[in-house]
Amino acid sequence: MSARVVVVGSLNVDATCYVDDFPAPGQTIAATGFQLALGGKGANQAVAAHVAGADVALLARVGDDANGALALATLERLGLPTAGIRTTTDAPTGVALITVAASGENTVVVAGGANLGWTIEAVDARRAHLADAAVVLTQGELPVVAIERCAALAHEVGARFVLNLAPPVGVGAATVALADPLVVNEHEAKALGIGRDLAADAALGRWLEAAVDAVAAGTARSVVVTLGAAGAVAAGGAGTHDASARPGIAVSAPRVRAVDTTGAGDGFTGTLAAFLAEGRSLHESVRLAVAAASLAVQRRGTVDSYASRDRVIEASAALTIESSD
Ligand code: RIB
Ligand code: NA
Repeated sequence: MSARVVVVGSLNVDATCYVDDFPAPGQTIAATGFQLALGGKGANQAVAAHVAGADVALLARVGDDANGALALATLERLGLPTAGIRTTTDAPTGVALITVAASGENTVVVAGGANLGWTIEAVDARRAHLADAAVVLTQGELPVVAIERCAALAHEVGARFVLNLAPPVGVGAATVALADPLVVNEHEAKALGIGRDLAADAALGRWLEAAVDAVAAGTARSVVVTLGAAGAVAAGGAGTHDASARPGIAVSAPRVRAVDTTGAGDGFTGTLAAFLAEGRSLHESVRLAVAAASLAVQRRGTVDSYASRDRVIEASAALTIESSD
């Protein structure tokens, strides 16, 4: 049970319209395609970790409605246990309205619904699920008090706390400091003060410096910044779970044609959590996560775009880890 990843996570149903270009305010346009499917950063990350080979428990909240039933049926189809999903009559299942343009870019509006019902008490009530976790993973789509409680419980049970602060909600500095790693994209990083002054097209090396500085300043135990098509950087980990760590590394992503980037960051984070839970180093796990994300952007959707463990390992072999020293 040592490779156990517990995701305390947001779960949505994504209503995605594929369009040529995004509509302007007041404009009505026809979609070129439509999909109603399981999403939510927590659920996506749980599926990615499962596909990567981890033993995953997803703790999530859904409404007593058709979207909740769709979510449960999808998790069952994908082979994830659903015992950690609670159905509430207080709120509807979370919904995300998504548009994906021909360029592969997207817009996302989330109505949090049942995800917003996570309280300190709700996290504590699930304490037993965390007992044998190697990694506890959560995201910015849950209420701040719940995220903070997850960090405290992870610490208590001796699990590695992985925090994907997407969106970059106002979690207390003491909670972020426990993250190992904190996983953010460049916009979320800047909102937290990491790489605040970097230009939009800053090179990976500059982001690597910013991540190393953030770890030195105690922002988090380790920091991973995902940089879309450019790849990702990682810093820290030494003295915690990753004794051989160099100060930081950068991994360039392969050049691919992105058809849908929705959930690619979740594919990255879930894969990262799975390989960390196995005991791989942060640097090796980031390389595998970059490979997973670059495969995910080449297919439509979120959970159905995640490639198998074998394909991820194979694709990662072509990626080099560049060291900061
Ligand atoms: O990261 C992608 C996810 O963000 C979507 O699945 C959507 O539900 C939103 O939570
Ligand atoms: Na995708």
